[in-house]
Amino acid sequence: MPPLLSVRDLSVVFPTRRGPVRAVDGLSFDVPRGGTLGIVGESGSGKSVTSMAVMGLHTGAEVSGSVVLDGQELTRLRERELNRLRGRRMAMVFQDPLSSLHPYYTVGEQIAEHHRVHFGSRRRVARERAVEALAEVGIPEPRRRAGEYPHQFSGGMRQRVMIATALVCEPDLLIADEPTTALDVTVQAQILDLIARVQQDRGLGVVLITHDLGVVARVAHEVLVMYGGRAVEQAPVDALFAAPAHPYTQGLLDSLPRLDDPADTPLRAIPGSPPSLLAPAPGCAFAPRCARARDRCREERPVLSGPADHPTACHFPAYEGVAS
Ligand SMILES: Nc1ncnc2c1ncn2[C@@H]1O[C@H](COP(=O)(O)OP(=O)(O)OP(=O)(O)O)[C@@H](O)[C@H]1O
Ligand code: SF4
Ligand SMILES: [Mg+2]
Repeated sequence: MPPLLSVRDLSVVFPTRRGPVRAVDGLSFDVPRGGTLGIVGESGSGKSVTSMAVMGLHTGAEVSGSVVLDGQELTRLRERELNRLRGRRMAMVFQDPLSSLHPYYTVGEQIAEHHRVHFGSRRRVARERAVEALAEVGIPEPRRRAGEYPHQFSGGMRQRVMIATALVCEPDLLIADEPTTALDVTVQAQILDLIARVQQDRGLGVVLITHDLGVVARVAHEVLVMYGGRAVEQAPVDALFAAPAHPYTQGLLDSLPRLDDPADTPLRAIPGSPPSLLAPAPGCAFAPRCARARDRCREERPVLSGPADHPTACHFPAYEGVAS
């Protein structure tokens, strides 16, 4: 069965006064129905730009490559056709729910409006759907709470409202961009479990974007690791955690807090800073930060290669059993 979402050779370039910024460069990935792809990478690695490109939301940028949702090529659609698909077939949840909710309308009105726009439903039907959607995401007393305003909800509850808004039109694909970053750890776990449950119940395809590999471990089936706008490693989640091949992925894993760490252990971070997207150096973008870098790394840019189900872009990858 073809994947629900198939992205091939996606590139996004922003023309700026200082020159073109190549924010995403040659990305390819699939998301099956009922599957969750986790996209991880540091700040500025191109995660959000990728998700916006899938949704067709970049204006002023040069977007190339192919984005196929359920057999339909999205990059050739007109804005009006894309608008019809957004929300209805593919929906997005952002990091900051307060900025996505209107302060002057009740939560119920906002979810219902979404349903009315996409289905042309009557007011009363849309309102009932909104209450059902709030119930589905675990909001207690959904009928009463539908009549309240966003500021009357806690951060975690607002994020549930955003997920309810995304789900009310029964999309096939949900893109969640850092949906839990602003939340405390307990609420974060609840939201991730909610996404996983809804995904299983509905057979949704999910793209979950995060800079936190701990989040990926909890919900993703497949992982795409991005560095400087490119894919540096792609693998099923278990394989990635058991045998990370790329030094950058290894660095991300090493920076995860461990259960046996003493309570006052400072957070580890990968030393160095992300690469320039304006004037990319020849060779491997990770070389200045890589303990394994050799001359070849600075001269020749590595491309994704290796096992088809676990490719990596590194001249000296650490595959299990392969000397590095
Ligand atoms: N409109 C734009 N014009 C120019 N450059 C942009 C634009 N939007 C994004 N960029 C650049 O593209 C790069 C990738 O940005 P992106 O927002 O995708 O990062 P990210 O991985 O989502 O980071 P974060 O974890 O901080 O959300 C950044 O260097 C950013 O400065
Ligand atoms: S190609 Fe070289 S510099 Fe780049 S990640 Fe691999 S070993 Fe490190
Ligand atoms: Mg982002």
